[in-house]
Amino acid sequence: MTKVRKPLISGNWKMHHNHFEALQLVQKLSYLITPDDFAAVDVSIHPPFTDLRTVQTYLISEKEPIPIALGAQHCHYDDTGAFTGEVSPAFLAKLEVAYVIAGHSERREVFGETDEQVNAKVHAILRHGMTPILCCGETLEEREASHTEAKVTGQVEAGLAGLTADQVAGLVLAYEPIWAIGTGRTASSEDAQGVCGLVRTVVEGRFGAEAAAGVRIQYGGSVKPTNAAELMAQPDIDGALVGGASLDADDFARIVGYRS
Ligand code: 13P
Repeated sequence: MTKVRKPLISGNWKMHHNHFEALQLVQKLSYLITPDDFAAVDVSIHPPFTDLRTVQTYLISEKEPIPIALGAQHCHYDDTGAFTGEVSPAFLAKLEVAYVIAGHSERREVFGETDEQVNAKVHAILRHGMTPILCCGETLEEREASHTEAKVTGQVEAGLAGLTADQVAGLVLAYEPIWAIGTGRTASSEDAQGVCGLVRTVVEGRFGAEAAAGVRIQYGGSVKPTNAAELMAQPDIDGALVGGASLDADDFARIVGYRS
């Protein structure tokens, strides 16, 4: 079955690369990713906040703007205010950020983000014309206790609460099993497909068939050049959210070019 959804491959750099290193990486990517790949796949990179302006300036400074979309890893849900250390979604939109990750497991587990906060961020990101990448995923203990379905369903339903079917059709969900993040232990393509299929069914139940057909669902967790093609071949996997391998230009470009 041919997928109608254009895949989105996103590089989440997490807290890696200062703005000098970021510039080198994005320059390499702009040479390594081919026009054919850009035609077939949407690409976003999510550097640390301190790199965003440098990367944005580079992407638009070439005679032909480079079609790598700028992404952020996180934002606050208010536009301005007394929130020391937080970053406004309005400021990200002003920097031409296109995608913002919301509810990454590291934000939930390390910084205590709740489903309600994640939902408020999703609304804020959309309010500013950007696209949320809403993350969900279970821990190893939850998987072993057969709680994957309940955990992921709960996160998706809570994260999407209050949105319209049209909004949901245009956004991105990312299934990232926590036990597969940074561990080298990828979910098998059958397991990843199983949960991504479940996520689409949850969307269909809440928002209808059109929203379910439109929403793009990424898999994340130890995606590498060697496993990208098999994951991407699954009917409900529409892209990848890549951590470690996105820090290496050759590896990330090979993941983006997974079709060859
Ligand atoms: P790794 O690709 O390093 O496992 O990280 C996945 C991730 O958390 C992307 O958001």
